[in-house]
Amino acid sequence: MKGVILAGGLGSRLNPLTSITNKHLLPVYDKPMIYYPIEALVRAGIDDILLVTGGNNAGDFLRLLGNGAEFGLKHLNYTYQHGEGGIADALGLAEHFADDKKLCVILGDNILERNIIQAVSDFEKQEEGAKILLKEVHDPERFGVAEISEGKVLSIEEKPKKPKSNLAVIGIYFYDRQVFELIHGLEPSARGELEITDVNNMYIERGQMTYEVLKGWWTDAGTFESLHRASNLVAEGGANKVDA
Ligand code: G1P
Repeated sequence: MKGVILAGGLGSRLNPLTSITNKHLLPVYDKPMIYYPIEALVRAGIDDILLVTGGNNAGDFLRLLGNGAEFGLKHLNYTYQHGEGGIADALGLAEHFADDKKLCVILGDNILERNIIQAVSDFEKQEEGAKILLKEVHDPERFGVAEISEGKVLSIEEKPKKPKSNLAVIGIYFYDRQVFELIHGLEPSARGELEITDVNNMYIERGQMTYEVLKGWWTDAGTFESLHRASNLVAEGGANKVDA
């Protein structure tokens, strides 16, 4: 399986911290934010990784990460997202890199307590389709929210005013080769972006979406509150742990 890390976007919810750098280069406790998703993939055995970045500070990723030697990698792939097209638009840039292989996609501001090795291995065995990871949260209206019944995902709503559950769709997604055909057919949402939730709902309609509920803590780090929380959680016990 190959890995794709999405680290573009303007990070405008973190202004003025993001007015001169990319959100994913900001510190989360003792490391730049981008270290955590790279580590999450590497610790799950994924070492063929594409980093999608964008904006004015894309070159800083290269200066910081180089070929990924600090993570035990021989090589890191990079690509550049023009504009603010959304998560699915950024993922669309990975088509050539994916080369029809299965993908584990992780948003650059998602930080987890535990390693994702089990989900990776489960998706390796899944014949076709996609897999999402869910986590109970107290503020589901901030996220994509899944409606679940009898072990199946019925639908996902992006930032619903009246969430149907407290299960947030976290920013780690598993896809097979169909994902690019689905992205090509997307229309921009009301906020002008290609939404990853639309892609996931198409897999649900095809009856090809599985899910797992995450153990251990998870947080994004794209708002002042969640960035602060992420730093505290990492300081208290570390991230991407194998035996948490
Ligand atoms: C994105 C996705 C959302 C998901 C979240 C996880 O939201 O659109 O479905 O729950 O990431 O971090 P964003 O943080 O880009 O608003």
